[in-house]
Amino acid sequence: MKAFIIAALTADGFIAKSSQHLTDWTSKEDKHFFVEKTKQAGVVVFGQNTFETIRKPLKDRLTIVYSKDKQYEGVEVTQKDPRELLEDLEKRGYKEVAICGGATIYTMFMQAGVVDKLYLSVEPVFFGQGLTLFTKELDKKLELVSVQKLGDHTVLLEYIVTN
Ligand SMILES: NC(=O)c1ccc[n+]([C@@H]2O[C@H](COP(=O)([O-])OP(=O)(O)OC[C@H]3O[C@@H](n4cnc5c(N)ncnc54)[C@H](OP(=O)(O)O)[C@@H]3O)[C@@H](O)[C@H]2O)c1
Repeated sequence: MKAFIIAALTADGFIAKSSQHLTDWTSKEDKHFFVEKTKQAGVVVFGQNTFETIRKPLKDRLTIVYSKDKQYEGVEVTQKDPRELLEDLEKRGYKEVAICGGATIYTMFMQAGVVDKLYLSVEPVFFGQGLTLFTKELDKKLELVSVQKLGDHTVLLEYIVTN
C-alpha cells in the first residue's frame, strides 16, 4: 500500500493562514493536478478542520475524514491509527492513498512512517505567517524525484521519503 502527501505551499512555506482558511488561493493548474492525482489513488484522507472547509465528499474518490465526534454524509469518519487505516484499505483492494491534510493529518501520517512520497506545489504568494506543513518535530530525509512547472507560475516538487 502506497501513501503520498499532496499539498500546496506558499513561496514562504505555509499551507494556510489558519485552521479555518479555505484553500482557494492555489492555481487552476494545481487544482487540476490535485484532481488527477487523487482520482488515480481513489482514496483521499482529510482532517476534520480541512474537511469543514470543503464540506462534501470528493467525486469518484473514497473520502475519509479524521474526527472524534462528527459524522458527514458520503464520508467515512475514522480515528484509526494510520497504519491500521492503510491495512484496512489494502484489504478492501485499494493500492494508493492520498493524504490531503491539513497539518495535523500530514504530521500524523509522516510520524507513523507510512508516507512514501510527497507532491508539493509552490504557489507564487506569501502569507508571512500561518500553518506550516507539519506541526511537530520530524527527522526525515527526502530524495527529489522531479521538478515540474505547472502553468507559468507554479512549481511542482516530487519527493520520495528515504527513511
Ligand atoms: N495548502 C494545502 O495544500 C492544504 C491542504 C489541506 C489543508 N490545508 C489547510 O489546513 C488547515 C487545517 O489544518 P489543521 O492542522 O488545522 O487541521 P486538520 O489536519 O485538517 O484536522 C485536524 C482535525 O482532525 C482531528 N483528528 C486528528 N487526529 C485524529 C485522530 N487520530 N482521530 C480522530 N480525529 C483526529 C482533530 O481532532 P481533535 O482536535 O479532536 O484532536 C482535528 O479536529 C485548513 O486551513 C486547510 O485549508 C491546506
